[in-house]
Amino acid sequence: MSTDVVIVGCSGHGREVFSIIQAVNQAGGDREPVRVLGFVDDAPSERNLKLVQRLDAAYLGRIDWLRTAPAGTHVLLGVGHPAVRQRLGRRVGDYRLPALSVVHPDATLGRDLVHGEGLVVFPGARVTTNVTLGRHVHLNQNATVGHDSLLDDYVSVNPSAAVSGDCHLAEAVLVGTCAAVLQGRRVGAGATVGASACVVRDVPGGTVVKGVPAR
Ligand SMILES: CC(C)(COP(=O)(O)OP(=O)(O)OC[C@H]1O[C@@H](n2cnc3c(N)ncnc32)[C@H](O)[C@@H]1OP(=O)(O)O)[C@@H](O)C(=O)NCCC(=O)NCCS
Repeated sequence: MSTDVVIVGCSGHGREVFSIIQAVNQAGGDREPVRVLGFVDDAPSERNLKLVQRLDAAYLGRIDWLRTAPAGTHVLLGVGHPAVRQRLGRRVGDYRLPALSVVHPDATLGRDLVHGEGLVVFPGARVTTNVTLGRHVHLNQNATVGHDSLLDDYVSVNPSAAVSGDCHLAEAVLVGTCAAVLQGRRVGAGATVGASACVVRDVPGGTVVKGVPAR
């Protein structure tokens, strides 16, 4: 038996998600293997199609392909930008397919983690204790999330970014590469924290902040 999954998005992030699934399968363990049926994408570039082929994976067609997916098929959103992933998630939600969660074997998850479906955790990511993650949250390579933090649906924490303890990142927040969010700060829905920024005060929803301290 295997768990079948379709990755939505052929671009680099989608192909990274594919690699995480391969690593999960190689690690073995109790979980049944995950079989990637292929990728769907409405407008894949020639380059991305070639790179998908090189993974020995299939391009299945447009996202509407999911309408005819075999019963039991799962989806995984293979798009890094939270706002785009949010749009895709709402659209794919119409097909009523469950979303798989994948955690790279070189990531660590602490005690009392609660998470929604579609979680993707990249290698080297670290989540400590009593963290709550919504649906389709993506924690990229070496990202960290500290104790008691709450990350709502579609949040992305980019490579090497650090979310401290007791933080709240609302829906579809992007924390850029190497950024830091200091303890207890709130970042409003749809906000972007620029790469290498340091968030020292709460960030209103829908805004972009950058720099040290982030403004
Ligand atoms: C902050 C950010 C959202 C701004 O994007 P943008 O609006 O397209 O910004 P631009 O590239 O047009 O730059 C606008 C100005 O901000 C500056 N700037 C851009 N990003 C910055 C950053 N992270 N920190 C400090 N200044 C930054 C630019 O130098 C430019 O300054 P100038 O007007 O004096 O020339 C973006 O640069 C960023 O950091 N995104 C995070 C992306 C990320 O993590 N990528 C990794 C993917 S794995």
